[in-house]
Amino acid sequence: MGEKKEKEEMVVTAWKVSGEIDYNKLVEQFGTKHVTQDILDRMEKKAGFLHTQLRRRVFFSHRDIDWWLDTYDRGEPVGLYTGRGPSGPVHLGHLLPWFFTKHLQDVYDADLYFQMTDDEKFLLHDHLTLDETIGYTYDNALDLIAVGLDAEKTHIISDTDNIDHLYRIGLEVAKKVTYSTIKAVFGLNDSDNIGIIFYPAIQAVPCFIQSAREGRKVAVLIPAAIDQDPYWRMTRDVAERLGYYKPAQMHAKFLPGLGKGGKMSASQPETAIFTIDPPELAEEKIMGAFTGGQPTVREQREKGGNPEVCSIYAYYFFLLEEDDAKLVELENECRSGAMVCGDCKARLGKVVSSFLVDFQRKREKAKDRLEEYLIK
Ligand code: TRP
Repeated sequence: MGEKKEKEEMVVTAWKVSGEIDYNKLVEQFGTKHVTQDILDRMEKKAGFLHTQLRRRVFFSHRDIDWWLDTYDRGEPVGLYTGRGPSGPVHLGHLLPWFFTKHLQDVYDADLYFQMTDDEKFLLHDHLTLDETIGYTYDNALDLIAVGLDAEKTHIISDTDNIDHLYRIGLEVAKKVTYSTIKAVFGLNDSDNIGIIFYPAIQAVPCFIQSAREGRKVAVLIPAAIDQDPYWRMTRDVAERLGYYKPAQMHAKFLPGLGKGGKMSASQPETAIFTIDPPELAEEKIMGAFTGGQPTVREQREKGGNPEVCSIYAYYFFLLEEDDAKLVELENECRSGAMVCGDCKARLGKVVSSFLVDFQRKREKAKDRLEEYLIK
């Protein structure tokens, strides 16, 4: 295989996402299911409206969401679980599934267990110390709280600080998973450290923690980006043997970065908007973004742009323009050449900057409430 081809090839594993992502292919490869109209109708009926991230198919794939909804409809206990690898500041791509998780918490009145994997990130990245990853746990928790989750129903877990909540179940899981399974599912090899071989057992635990704490079987749904699916394949394999339900999943697409192709990534800070970025800096990053426009204004006026490949349009689509009619208007203005990229970027810059001002205020307030959200 030529080097060029290799570079563009889609890679989606638990620890690496790169290349051009073909979401239909992932559904096939991972053996998940598409979110159907039927599921959307059910969720819309319950909520009274269809959440933007469902309408726009940001959450496009699932395992057993129908079962989770059935369980809820029967009046049996349901819960939510998601998490974050605290390896740096939070960017808008991370917030995307958290907003949807808050929606689910509101609609289904469910407890949320939120895992901060300060152990995983320490084990995976040579440049991070434990103090740093643990520090990011509490820093990133402010972003999570700013999303508006319910303090009484949200339990943030630092793997490192709260290992007493996790270790027993983690051992039960670990005993049922072989080294060869872990190697195959996560692509580990003999030079990987032994911590990361055990770690997947710890990420499985919050699927079961609510059941264990309440002494009854709770049906858990995990809303998360699709790269986490390998963990859930492993977890689903052992769940019933340990006396728990298999966790259901809803899988999200990745928010694209401001560069050409690829997801928003903290390792390319100029293409990511962090929640702590000064609004002016975010606006600057947006002005430097890759668009679907023509090289010159004249050509743009004549031929129009292509929103399908445009990172600016993606921001409106994924997160910042919830009004479908306005989104269509924007798309039309772009395709017809009525709007040029400079103006479109400046407009998004304003939207992002007012989003950040508001979010940063909430994030500041979260500092006083952090304690309430930590697992007890
Ligand atoms: N492994 C995830 C990461 O690197 C963190 C994580 C732990 C997580 N548990 C989760 C993410 C559950 C989503 C859902 O970001």
